[in-house]
Amino acid sequence: MRSSQLLLFLVLALLTTLSHCEKRFTTRQQVYDACKVIETNTTAFLEDYVSPSVNWTVTNPTRKTTPIAGDYLDLKSFVTQALMPLDAFFEEPLRLTIVDLITQFPKKEHPDGLVKVCMELRGRGNLKRDGSPWENYYSWVLHFKGTKAILVRAYLDSALVNIAMLPNRTSS
Ligand SMILES: *[C@@H]1O[C@H](CO)[C@@H](O)[C@H](O)[C@H]1NC(C)=O
Ligand SMILES: *[C@@H]1O[C@H](CO)[C@@H](O)[C@H](O)[C@H]1NC(C)=O
Ligand SMILES: *[C@@H]1O[C@H](CO)[C@@H](O)[C@H](O)[C@H]1NC(C)=O
Repeated sequence: MRSSQLLLFLVLALLTTLSHCEKRFTTRQQVYDACKVIETNTTAFLEDYVSPSVNWTVTNPTRKTTPIAGDYLDLKSFVTQALMPLDAFFEEPLRLTIVDLITQFPKKEHPDGLVKVCMELRGRGNLKRDGSPWENYYSWVLHFKGTKAILVRAYLDSALVNIAMLPNRTSS
């Protein structure tokens, strides 16, 4: 009896260890702690929690309603073709803060399924051309496989992006 209990304990301990090897989010707090990194260091968030081969859509990819709208098929493309060109219009990289975070975990029968997250963000910065404050509102839908986002759909106020990036375009 004692040895079978010991065996059961060892098996459970081994399974626990194995399940921790393959990291994944299981609580909203874990997702929140990961996403919170974006507030202090966007690069660190992208490196630690986004897959290098992420599909990142900045709306609206078909209508190209802003210069940075598009489907980016890896993280590097998103950073060099969307994030950096936008940041170039600001005195410093945009400061992002989390407004709210909504999480959806896979059903018990699919423990390896995607964790779907909606992150509402506010971005603030000062325009390089005159130092004026600028603010935008974002909703990012992220699909996490393990602890890395493999898909991101970013919704934003395109008019505000164009005010920053196309200073000579009239607002009509
Ligand atoms: C932000 O994170 C990156 C990647 O981890 C690191 O190289 C950089 O030094 C960090 N920046 C600050 C200001 O902490
Ligand atoms: C990423 O986009 C490509 C091209 O549209 C598609 O073939 C691929 O399945 C997508 N990957 C994911 C993880 O959605
Ligand atoms: C925008 O207008 C300013 C001032 O009229 C001008 O110097 C600048 O070259 C223009 N920029 C673009 C991208 O057209």
